[in-house]
Amino acid sequence: MLDFLGTRQRTNTCGELRAADAGKTVTLMGWVNRRRDHGNLIFLDLRDRYGITQIVLDKEISPEGHPKAEHVRPEYVVAAIGKVRLRGADVINPKMPTGEIEVAATELLVLNDSKVPPFSPAEDAIQNEEVRLKYRYLDLRRPEMQHNLEIRHKVALAVREYLSAQGFYEIETPYLTRSTPEGARDYLVPSRVHPGTFYALPQSPQLFKQILMISGLDKYFQIVRCFRDEDLRADRQPEFTQIDLEMTFPQQETVFRVVEGFLKAAFEVCGEPIVTPFPRMTYDEAIRRYGIDKPDLRLPPMTEVRDVFSAEELASLKIEPGLPIVAIVIPNKTAMSNTQKKAFAQEINAAVAPDLAYLDVERLGSAAQFSALAQRIDAAAAKNCGLARVEPENRLIVVSPRIGATAPARDHLWIYKKAGQLRLDLARRFEGEHKAFEKKGAGDDYKFLWVTDFPFFEWDEETKTWTFAHHPFTSPHESDLIAGRMESDPEAVRALAYDIVLNGLELGSGSIRIHRQDVQQQIFRALGMSEEEAQARFGFFLEALQYGTPPHGGIALGLDRIAMVLAGASSLREVTAFPKTAKAIDLMTDAPTEVSDAQLKELHIRPAVRS
Ligand code: AMO
Repeated sequence: MLDFLGTRQRTNTCGELRAADAGKTVTLMGWVNRRRDHGNLIFLDLRDRYGITQIVLDKEISPEGHPKAEHVRPEYVVAAIGKVRLRGADVINPKMPTGEIEVAATELLVLNDSKVPPFSPAEDAIQNEEVRLKYRYLDLRRPEMQHNLEIRHKVALAVREYLSAQGFYEIETPYLTRSTPEGARDYLVPSRVHPGTFYALPQSPQLFKQILMISGLDKYFQIVRCFRDEDLRADRQPEFTQIDLEMTFPQQETVFRVVEGFLKAAFEVCGEPIVTPFPRMTYDEAIRRYGIDKPDLRLPPMTEVRDVFSAEELASLKIEPGLPIVAIVIPNKTAMSNTQKKAFAQEINAAVAPDLAYLDVERLGSAAQFSALAQRIDAAAAKNCGLARVEPENRLIVVSPRIGATAPARDHLWIYKKAGQLRLDLARRFEGEHKAFEKKGAGDDYKFLWVTDFPFFEWDEETKTWTFAHHPFTSPHESDLIAGRMESDPEAVRALAYDIVLNGLELGSGSIRIHRQDVQQQIFRALGMSEEEAQARFGFFLEALQYGTPPHGGIALGLDRIAMVLAGASSLREVTAFPKTAKAIDLMTDAPTEVSDAQLKELHIRPAVRS
């Protein structure tokens, strides 16, 4: 039997009461986390967002409440009315903030019952993620998930406060719009009113925020949902949230200062002080030293060691001369037997770097003629990584390429990229022992980095054309434009584009934009986009560009990714209240679903033949 609430008011939360409250009469409401029946005494752990408080139902004190407590089960919602009292010294629970007290209930109201849940929110780790997602409301009752959502809220609030104090306006842009230029697949929404036409959900507010600059709004930001139909990974959701901003008349540095400011505020409010400004590195340096455009600075860089080899050594090792040789240092690599090493080398070669030869320094060292070489390599790597010396068990060498390996077209940095993949693969493999990945909770765990000067173009092997690396509204370096490299040497053109990277994760991307119509046309030409095609895709924007567009630039950061790092989680699903699975399904609502033929008809869509 359920009770009526009457005029009862909750007086305190379940995380609030302390020893100083002893003697107060209180009314607590919440979910039954656990129940222990000791005959005349029944203990209920009552849970809400704020914590857990122990309620005691003593037959003597509450002859009416006690029998009710015999029937309550986990996840029932109850109200307990009674007196706060100190626990005996031997039953104080130092792990709980409320562990010094309990509430001796005089009354118990059962406000609602619950089916037996498929898992208990009182458990710390629930293995089956599908069940968690299907019963997300139960999953979200877990303190860990509530904490993660609190982090997200705090970050969003800190960012809002910081940016509005800096004079940014939060301005909403439409969700029902047309295709945006981020390059992923669009989610389309059919128009009922205009048969055969579709809105696209925005992949980002890119063009709208640029138009707001043309409109003279000066500083815009928005914490905004974006939609991309792309292959999902742990750090990608089909709908996600960006901290999006744009400014008029900025230098790259101006954007950096704003982002550093709000990240500092957001991390600080979550108890994680960070140091600004963040270091910077050009794309070229990032690739040469880390083999990737989002370096994880917690791991040592790679070392170019070709100069260490003599011509004879290169020849006797059958190494292609004239190409880079990269050494990788793996801290805490466990000692492997020779058989393990061999298998490991084969595995790496097959999986990560089929075009690379792999030489272990230890193997080199074993042959007398190469021990001096191994020492020279160690010395170079130690110097580059800022170490006193490289421990013998931590060394690995990648020699590249194999004679006869085919280099990908128009990518002179490919060897570094391959070696970089290997570096990360090895780091993950040794993650267990890897100090760099230990979460210490101190500020210097967060290795932020600005990566600048991205190449403007990327070679698309499929279409055999140059395509844009960021988006087609990104400005090239003025000096590259003036030197005419657009036509003469597209590969060398650098973009005024930058990424903010944290511990190997891309947190955000942005650029200074093109504000001149003539430059924009030149870019479209270089991209092989005809006037008609550009007009058809972005005509409204090209029109707007002609009416006094100021220089402008901005950036967007993934709010979900920031929250993921701060929560110490490994997937965006842990910090998103209602996420989708890797197959883009919402297991709780079961979306996407089929719709009725009548709905389709209204939208002028012929029902598909369903299997
Ligand atoms: P970009 O496409 O690089 O740039 O996106 C910016 C940031 O958004 C986050 N992000 C995602 N997070 C979760 N799931 C996804 N599927 C996903 N896709 C992107 C990342 C990424 O760094 N309009 C430009 C920004 C600009 O130029 O101002 C843009 O959207 O953290």
